[in-house]
Amino acid sequence: MKSIYEAKEDNIAKAAQVIKDGGLVAMPTETVYGLGANVYDAQAVARIFEVKRRPTFDPLISHIADFDALPEYVEADQRVWALARRFWPGPLTMVLKRRGSHAGVDLACSGLPTATVRMPDHPVAAALIRQSGVPIVAPSANLFKSVSPTTAQHVYDGLGDQVDMILDGGSCPVGVESTILDVTGMTAVILRAGGTTREDIEDFLGEKVLLSHGEPDRPSAPGQLLRHYAPGHRLRINAEKPQENEFYIGFGTRDGDLNLSPSGDLREAAANLFAFLRQADATAGERTLAMAPIPEYGIGLAINDRIRRASHD
Ligand code: TXA
Ligand code: MG
Repeated sequence: MKSIYEAKEDNIAKAAQVIKDGGLVAMPTETVYGLGANVYDAQAVARIFEVKRRPTFDPLISHIADFDALPEYVEADQRVWALARRFWPGPLTMVLKRRGSHAGVDLACSGLPTATVRMPDHPVAAALIRQSGVPIVAPSANLFKSVSPTTAQHVYDGLGDQVDMILDGGSCPVGVESTILDVTGMTAVILRAGGTTREDIEDFLGEKVLLSHGEPDRPSAPGQLLRHYAPGHRLRINAEKPQENEFYIGFGTRDGDLNLSPSGDLREAAANLFAFLRQADATAGERTLAMAPIPEYGIGLAINDRIRRASHD
């Protein structure tokens, strides 16, 4: 695997140089692996869309490593700063009003008047961003609509040598993508459930947060597309038990060919989700897939969101 490099100091330094030179680096974050480029290099940003085969109307998240970088091209009011200080570094992405203009940022934001920013909670991502000296835009490092990568090998399996360097930082501990929170209006709205729970955001803000499932034809976050995160096999969800000829992914006391978390721990289940979907896909053969019911609270919201889209035909 010539493009996979262990995330050691010298390789991170090399990767930072690749970013500065306009290349693409896949980096581990606490959620999933991201396919990163310098946001101020419009050609590099364009290559991300090409390599992922992602439509350019689907905007990218800017990743920063320090709080000072937050207002670089967005407006941040007191509520935004408060959320950032409470939840960063961590799996919370905020949709913010943009200011200024730059070709790379415009492309990354698909020309929208908003930009999404997050500060990943991963030492490798943080070191890479700091050494690159610029915000790194990064979508999940997989082909558009397929299952997100939680290991360096997953990245290689999907994108191969089109990525200049894949930094291998092991498995991503959270395992589902960040929560996308739109804070451009009076009421905060979750556009994509993710690693930061709705409950934690509501507790902190002291008010209800809306959860948008989006309009399927006009998604404001294309993660809202009905079919997304899709394995190759058909997937039946909320399956109390397997039917004949089904590969069963269990949860808690519902055991199966695999079990997302025998102890019923939702965090463990989220961390295993994408790797298990891939493993199930690779081993189910003639069988189709079925998954046990997952409770609809905490990070369970994010798990159910992903498998709902993965199961849509
Ligand atoms: O955890 C994550 O968020 C990972 C890691 C790598 O940081 N990134 C990730 O990026 O999941 P991506 O591109 O696969 O998903 C980002 C989602 C997309 O559905 C995109 O449409 C939405 O964020 N998005 C980006 N900018 C937006 C904006 N200005 N308004 C609404 N949605 C936006
Ligand atoms: Mg993605």
